[in-house]
Amino acid sequence: GKPRVWISRPTFPDIVARLEPYFEVTAEAVERVFAPAELASRLASLDAAIVGLNQRIGAAEVANAPRLRIVANLAVGYDNLDVPALTAAGIAASNTPDVLSESVADYTWALMLATARHMGAAERWLRAGQWRANGFKDWLGLDTRGRTLGILGLGRIGQAIAHRAAGFGMPVIYHNRSRLPAAVEAGCAARYVDKPTLLAESDFLVLAVPLTGESHHAIGAAELAAMKPTAVLVNIARGGIVDDAALAAALADGRLAAAALDVFEGEPAVHPALLALDNVILSPHIASATWDTRRAMTALAVDNVLALFGHGPHAGHPPSLVNPGVLAARPAP
Ligand code: GLV
Ligand code: GLV
Repeated sequence: GKPRVWISRPTFPDIVARLEPYFEVTAEAVERVFAPAELASRLASLDAAIVGLNQRIGAAEVANAPRLRIVANLAVGYDNLDVPALTAAGIAASNTPDVLSESVADYTWALMLATARHMGAAERWLRAGQWRANGFKDWLGLDTRGRTLGILGLGRIGQAIAHRAAGFGMPVIYHNRSRLPAAVEAGCAARYVDKPTLLAESDFLVLAVPLTGESHHAIGAAELAAMKPTAVLVNIARGGIVDDAALAAALADGRLAAAALDVFEGEPAVHPALLALDNVILSPHIASATWDTRRAMTALAVDNVLALFGHGPHAGHPPSLVNPGVLAARPAP
């Protein structure tokens, strides 16, 4: 029979239909997180899986999946996949780079501006009837012009964020593990600084690094203490890059002006101390969630699966594998 592909969440039927000539396709009708044993039993009979970033897949989940050739992650970040374990099992992994960068950059600016101008707190105040009851309140916020935008992680997303800074009149500084070529820096008018300088000089500090062992708690108590007390911290990258408890403490003590978070350690749970604060904007991991971008992400995941099995526009050459070397070790079917 046809190879089998499974999709861990409901998605766009017209895009998924592109798999149907070649695969037996099953898609979950309801979004949920699968327990490890459940995931292992799903994967056992599959040739391909397209999964959301809330599904964690490692050695145990693929131990009894001899037919499985590819796990296509519906996200650019793939910290939910144990890539070395998949590679060892001869399984390709793909992500969705590039197609989401502009949407995530738009959303990052939405969070920065919403935070700088108290949009969350002011709206809660209005909806609670306090405008009518109490009359005028200033809600004085921060201007962006002339303030320094710091970006930790000037990758594709970081660069899309930086490009928008020109329109706001904000100088951009960045820190990366390794400095980018001068042409890239010039292209987004970003100046390389070391991490202590990034922390000390940023008025708005945006985190755009992937979650790795190295970036875990890259912003903890010590880093927060090194920031300006007037600064705003924005995390659109991954929960776990910020120590959420330390952040809540800094915000509560006035050691940091405000924060905006789209991602959380242990999401969908959110640290209760953050929920209790008014100077933080919280959103449920939606930075890439536009119609166009989520469709493009789904199409890219589908293209990777089709290509690995020799079909579609990239037949034989999956466009965004994160472990392309796996194909040499275990040639595509
Ligand atoms: C979303 O968080 C992604 O990694 O695409
Ligand atoms: C990393 O997640 C990037 O695409 O910048």
